[in-house]
Amino acid sequence: MVPEQPVGGDDPIGGVLAEYTRDLVTAVNQTLAEFLTAEVAALTEIDPAMGGFAGTARDYVLGGGKRVRPTFAYWGWRGAVGGGEPVAPVLPALATLELLHTFALVHDDVMDASTTRRGRPTAHVAVAAQHAAAGLSGDSGRFGEAVAVLIGDLCMVWADQLLARTALPPSRLLDVRRGYDRMRVETVAGQYLDVLGETDPANWSVDRALRVARYKTASYTVQRPLLFGASLAGVHDDAPLRAAYTRYGLCVGEAFQLRDDLLGVYGDPTTTGKPTGDDLRTGKPTALLLLARQLATPAQRRALDGTDSGADPPEIARLAEVVIDTGAVDRVERMIDERVEEALVVLDTAVVDETAHTALVGLATAATHRRA
Ligand code: IPE
Ligand code: MG
Ligand code: MG
Repeated sequence: MVPEQPVGGDDPIGGVLAEYTRDLVTAVNQTLAEFLTAEVAALTEIDPAMGGFAGTARDYVLGGGKRVRPTFAYWGWRGAVGGGEPVAPVLPALATLELLHTFALVHDDVMDASTTRRGRPTAHVAVAAQHAAAGLSGDSGRFGEAVAVLIGDLCMVWADQLLARTALPPSRLLDVRRGYDRMRVETVAGQYLDVLGETDPANWSVDRALRVARYKTASYTVQRPLLFGASLAGVHDDAPLRAAYTRYGLCVGEAFQLRDDLLGVYGDPTTTGKPTGDDLRTGKPTALLLLARQLATPAQRRALDGTDSGADPPEIARLAEVVIDTGAVDRVERMIDERVEEALVVLDTAVVDETAHTALVGLATAATHRRA
């Protein structure tokens, strides 16, 4: 059994639902560990150096994380099949989402030049440090990035491999696969728009920031995992349950990203596992920071626009205060609440298994009022 790492890996549900989640997280981790042990052994046969490389990929998959996507997929599935159905046949599919997530994170950290993730150095930074420490030839940074790209690639291939092992009839698996591909395309779209926004933050709009949130986060974190679960259960395309999951997923997913915007400025790095203040330092056009600029007085606006990438921690802390003073934090908190409320209304009208209903109510709040 794989122990859960403490940093950034606390259970996302809490309270009455913790029991369900713990069992699920344990089962997903076990599925991943078994799969990865065999894959790392197979790769080691190519060349002894592959063992270290594949082992690094495995450690990133198993090294913590909230397992949010398998959790939503599980409840999406359970909501449709009800309480009696054993989970074992669909576990590979649920675990697939976590492999895909490692791929997305490792590449995202290269794209964002991030140094810390889940409380540890990011993959490209760790590999670059090993390269430098061993006194190897070439540029350590470039080597780190090259290897991180490959680690991400490997995780994406692993994700596909594991998905194919799901014990379902091929026609149903094809359906699952269609939604899975849609999710991956939407994530790429969101990620592209995200980096594009950074090239022209002054002309980015709140609407566009919300579109980024929708594709980069809502689709990939909540909406598509729920629909993925519904497809695993064989729920057909025009079933009302899919419409309910779609709406709930968008609302909770956008709220999840809005919470991420807040944690990016006000979060505690020992809890989030990521540095705080980077969005302020780089002027990233998140919904929060765009709203702050919109609502700012001329003096506040000058302070916000005057930041540069060399800003020191006290200056970042002052800017974080300015953002609060503009009213943008309150506004974003309201936007989160509105979305959670709508999600709960949608859920109340859906015909969904009772335990799954309770879990999804709990998750809507836990995923959007988290500290990690
Ligand atoms: C990451 O987005 C989204 C995906 C990996 C698809 P961000 O770049 O905004 O998130 P963090 O702050 O690095 O986790
Ligand atoms: Mg990032
Ligand atoms: Mg990013």
